[in-house]
Amino acid sequence: MWVKSLVALCLLASVRADKTLSSHANILVDSSTNLAFDLYHNMAKEKNMENILISPVVVASSLGLVALGGKSNTASQVKTVLGGNKVKDEHLHSSLAEILTEVSNSTARNVTWKISNRLYGPSSVNFADDFVKNSKKHYKYEHSKINFRDKRSAVKAINEWASKSTDGKLPEITKDVEKTDGAMIINAMFYKPHWDEQFHHKMVDNRGFLVHRSYTVSVPMMHRTGVYGFYEDTANNLFVLEMPLAHKMSSVVFIMTYHVEPLERVEKLLTRKQVETWLSKLEQKAVAVSLPKVSMEVSHNLQKHLGQIGLTEAVDKAKADLSNISGKKDLYLSNLFHASALEWDTEGNPPDTSIFGTDKLKNPKLFYADHPFIFLVKDKKTNSILYIGRLVRPKGDKMRDEL
Ligand SMILES: *[C@@H]1O[C@H](CO)[C@@H](O)[C@H](O)[C@H]1NC(C)=O
Ligand SMILES: *[C@@H]1O[C@H](CO)[C@@H](O)[C@H](O)[C@H]1NC(C)=O
Ligand SMILES: *[C@@H]1O[C@H](CO)[C@@H](O)[C@H](O)[C@H]1NC(C)=O
Repeated sequence: MWVKSLVALCLLASVRADKTLSSHANILVDSSTNLAFDLYHNMAKEKNMENILISPVVVASSLGLVALGGKSNTASQVKTVLGGNKVKDEHLHSSLAEILTEVSNSTARNVTWKISNRLYGPSSVNFADDFVKNSKKHYKYEHSKINFRDKRSAVKAINEWASKSTDGKLPEITKDVEKTDGAMIINAMFYKPHWDEQFHHKMVDNRGFLVHRSYTVSVPMMHRTGVYGFYEDTANNLFVLEMPLAHKMSSVVFIMTYHVEPLERVEKLLTRKQVETWLSKLEQKAVAVSLPKVSMEVSHNLQKHLGQIGLTEAVDKAKADLSNISGKKDLYLSNLFHASALEWDTEGNPPDTSIFGTDKLKNPKLFYADHPFIFLVKDKKTNSILYIGRLVRPKGDKMRDEL
């Protein structure tokens, strides 16, 4: 009992003790983590949804922008969804900015994360100077008007902007825009993890990835054996693996079933508390890891999903009051395209070669990611979730059925 509560205390302390961020920012990190799980579950419910890739801290900052443009009930509801109702207005925007500046610092983290944000308004809108100034300052937003009368070229212009902002990594955000009469937010991101210990670039070969039992695609797979945090949850038939990224400031946590099966079963278990439990059970072990070496390009329109998890006012044309954007009550949030290219690659820092050929790497556990898995990119310094997602269908050609 005593040991148990001590462990619980230590866990709590590791959550609370962070001095990197201000206390307001820590509150927002905490609520962005809840937002991550709510949003993930809401999206996973959707039929035909395959790969998922969401950055909770970037979604939080987009909500911050909506709060900045909102008034009365619309503004207070955004803050509730954001968990920012415990944070005073004068701290909300600067704290959200503080989080993003910290976690996206490429120099400190040795990780490539390019984030570009744009707010599009219909050609009739006049952006208020104050709003433009503050959304640039806190959220690094660009502003642009767009005319949807020629829809094809409007969509093309959006995709071209996203492509350019991500150095071509994200060539297409959307093929179409349904609701063209409101404010449209776009997050265009490129993320490339840089491993704490690199994979050897030659340890890559083509393997099959089982999207489901009867559908296999061919993907390049990278392999390495190292010492990693590993836990085998035998009650739930799944593996948990944590692989640190450069400077060990962040890590990728993989959650994968033993064998190919729909992710639904694991997703039912996937709560914040369960993930914390899994992480607390990790043990440093030799693990032979095989991961698809692929780039995931995923774009979600979060407008509807945010509406379903409580943001009902801003997305409703009849109710929305976003008059701090334009000075008039003439806008609602019609789209929020949240798009990322995530490149899983071999690159990282040189490995610790002193353990090669020693007992430390003997009899490794196998983590062979040839079927769908869930992952989280966790920032250790701020305790925030940089990404939550799942890889269900990697890019690759269908392989002939094997008997
Ligand atoms: C709306 O903008 C005005 C003027 O810039 C500002 O004083 C007010 O605080 C803003 N309202 C909200 C809810 O942010
Ligand atoms: C990023 O981190 C580096 C090294 O820790 C630091 O010198 C720099 O000021 C940081 N940049 C920002 C924008 O915070
Ligand atoms: C990470 O560090 C390595 C080695 O110092 C360097 O070559 C690489 O450019 C860095 N990458 C980023 C994104 O900072």
